[in-house]
Amino acid sequence: MGFFYKTKETTFKTKGDFLSFARSLNFNYLGSKNKLKRFKENETFANVIQPSREQIVSSNFELKGRWASHFGNAHPIVLELGCGKGEYTVALAKRYPEKNFIGIDIKGARFWRGAKSAIAEDLHNVAFLRTQIELIDLLFGKHEVAEIWITFPDPQIKYKRTKHRLTNKAFLEKYAAILEPNGLVNLKTDSEFMHGYTLGLLQGLNLEIVYSNHDIYKNHGSPKEVIEIQTFYENQYLKEDKPITYIQFKVR
Ligand SMILES: C[S@@+](CC[C@H](N)C(=O)[O-])C[C@H]1O[C@@H](n2cnc3c(N)ncnc32)[C@H](O)[C@@H]1O
Repeated sequence: MGFFYKTKETTFKTKGDFLSFARSLNFNYLGSKNKLKRFKENETFANVIQPSREQIVSSNFELKGRWASHFGNAHPIVLELGCGKGEYTVALAKRYPEKNFIGIDIKGARFWRGAKSAIAEDLHNVAFLRTQIELIDLLFGKHEVAEIWITFPDPQIKYKRTKHRLTNKAFLEKYAAILEPNGLVNLKTDSEFMHGYTLGLLQGLNLEIVYSNHDIYKNHGSPKEVIEIQTFYENQYLKEDKPITYIQFKVR
């Protein structure tokens, strides 16, 4: 009898044992069959856009600077970076039908959830873009974006991972390139490290911090959508009683 899965500490004899363990860690396990099914469905969804890396880096992404043609209107464009299941993208789209929302994530099996909900709810102001956030300045034209949401990003605490942190200086410069002059960035995180790092960096770069709150559910005053919309990851952190922080800032 072989084992199904082995970690450094434990050998799981059955798939059931592994799944129970994974669930106890709030681990979001999704079988490969399910993933394939979602990838296939994503290909049929009109609200899912999946350009190849080659297409993007060779400047052949046809929607750059022309997102209005995709939505059929010139309404302001709002991005959710690392959108996961796309809770913010879908919830904000329902609240603000006069704006267009694009959830961006490299994991198509995750945003499948948001794409499917948007179709079921007949939301025409929603799109999901499967790509790396690092390529964002090749996907949107200058000043094409009105606002950015970054929801529960991996804080990338290790020094070596700084380049992957979504509020590092290089990312802020990319956001500045695509945002309208007064465009806003919203960062919602459970990570004290990410919150402090971002505040410090913004101050050092003399960028405007429009609003900051280090515990949004205790200290009142955050915008309604910050309090009223919860993501998948946020719900895990709330179960652990972790304070949730929020910063709204400008990048120029
Ligand atoms: C910690 S999860 C948060 C998901 C969601 N925002 C939430 O709050 O539930 C981070 C997400 O960002 C995505 N992500 C991280 N780095 C990325 C990158 N460089 N490009 C595209 N997606 C990325 C991951 O695939 C993942 O879905």
